[in-house]
Amino acid sequence: MRTAVRGSWFPGRSVLRRGARRARAKLGGMESPESLESPETSPTPSEAPAHPGASPRCPSRRTALAAAGALGAAALVAGCSGGGSDDESGAQLARVSDIPVGGGKVLKDHKVVVTQPVAGEFKAFSAVCTHQGCTVTRVANGMIECPCHGSRFRITDGVMTSGPAPRPLPAEEIKVTGDTIVRA
Ligand code: FES
Repeated sequence: MRTAVRGSWFPGRSVLRRGARRARAKLGGMESPESLESPETSPTPSEAPAHPGASPRCPSRRTALAAAGALGAAALVAGCSGGGSDDESGAQLARVSDIPVGGGKVLKDHKVVVTQPVAGEFKAFSAVCTHQGCTVTRVANGMIECPCHGSRFRITDGVMTSGPAPRPLPAEEIKVTGDTIVRA
């Protein structure tokens, strides 16, 4: 029982024994020692894989890891760009003339709402509702409105005045450069 288990775990040993028997038989006069090496079982160095199981079509583990690392970095960058403002620093958001006094504008592509509560005073808030993450869609009557469950936020400070939203809209950093409003 024990021998059978060992045999099944080390199949290379029986191959070695067969090779030794064959070599002894050949040395016994059937063939010269120079012809013992079998060309079909001894690959040349150029044919032999660098690692057991390696294939010329398969990338090495190092290459695969490098590719995975690059993809991971790309995924990380993509993940950071969703709704954040850090990677938009300096991005042009709107023209001053686009923002009505006493109102504002939702800039969906930038996920930001820019308001102008009084002439010449600009504010910006995240356009992502603090309730369940809907994007706010409208600015009217001094309020920023979320269409999903009716939360309303003041254009002056982003504080909610009605609806289920638990927190104000986070403020976003902007600056006015000439007639352009950009991310700070
Ligand atoms: S997600 Fe805005 S009110 Fe519910």
